[in-house]
Amino acid sequence: LDLLPTPHLLVDLATVERNAQRLADYAARHRLAVRPHAKTHKSLALAQLQLKSGARGLTVAKVGEAKVMASVCDDLLIAYPALDHARTTAIADLARTASVRVAIDSQMAADALAAAVGAAHSTLGILIDLDLGMRRTGVQTPEASLHLARHVAQTPHLRLDGLFCYPGHVQRPPNQQGEQLTAASQLLDETLALWRRAGLPAPIVSGGSTPTAYQSHLMPSLTEIRPGTYLFNDANTLYGGFCTIDDCAAVIVATVMSNVIPGKVIIDAGSKTLTSDLNIHRRDSGYGYLPDYTDATITRLSEEHGELDVSRCQQPPRLGERVRVIPNHICPCVNLQSSLWLRDHEGQAHLLPVDARGLLS
Ligand SMILES: Cc1ncc(COP(=O)(O)O)c(C=O)c1O
Repeated sequence: LDLLPTPHLLVDLATVERNAQRLADYAARHRLAVRPHAKTHKSLALAQLQLKSGARGLTVAKVGEAKVMASVCDDLLIAYPALDHARTTAIADLARTASVRVAIDSQMAADALAAAVGAAHSTLGILIDLDLGMRRTGVQTPEASLHLARHVAQTPHLRLDGLFCYPGHVQRPPNQQGEQLTAASQLLDETLALWRRAGLPAPIVSGGSTPTAYQSHLMPSLTEIRPGTYLFNDANTLYGGFCTIDDCAAVIVATVMSNVIPGKVIIDAGSKTLTSDLNIHRRDSGYGYLPDYTDATITRLSEEHGELDVSRCQQPPRLGERVRVIPNHICPCVNLQSSLWLRDHEGQAHLLPVDARGLLS
């Protein structure tokens, strides 16, 4: 490990396995299916690990990711609206050989997908995206969801499979999420009651995120959850109180390349390695968390340089020393790497490709 070129992304297998198993156990206790979001790792090997630990299928954002993941999983949810020609035709093609569902919030998406799927002689499952308060995507009222659900139910080649939601606005510590999740749950229940009265089925109610993963039972109508970050965790989930330091499976390993500026050391990981994302819970905490140097802060990034303020460190990292950085936001960080090193139980490192890296369409 000490000879690997830096900077590199190092993932600890034992921690990954523990994170996967903990979620699987929780989900089993609450009769929830797990459909992890593969955008976090973009890796076929890690997707297989999740499937082996009981995941029902995989979630992806992008069609390119879906195509890659289809080689290890034939049950895919595209958690992203699709209405343009490139996406709809690629989805229709994929739906010929795999079970594919798409979450949508417009009739235009339903019609575009139906046209593509009809031409490809395939069938597509549709989930209606309902906004729970994040205000990013999702129809805005239960009535609007019913309207769109009716449209989907009447559209050839589409199968209405249920509801979709994402509580991305819930970022409080788990023991303070009750109020927001109860409100979200009431909205879901109201929507499902409306659908029931209209005779529309909703066998799937898909929700969940990493911050809310272990509070999903507060939304009893969910049938499946889709956390992604939980597998690796990051400085966001750490500062948010959603994991402990021992649950952080992924670090960037960087080398101290310069220490001539007083009070600073420079590492070989900049924005092209760590991303420029700040921590959403502590915006003044710098560009990542240094578990071995908690008094140091990554205060500024150039593309290839990370500047650490070490003025508060009794013993700053030495020139040539390797330091570990837990990225603020692991998902875009992984997307910057073409491969990662997986440290196995014996401490051996294995190079894994980030198979779906850069697939943004
Ligand atoms: C629609 C959707 N579902 C699930 C997730 C996974 O959530 P998390 O990153 O909290 O694990 C995301 C994350 O961006 C998302 O956008």
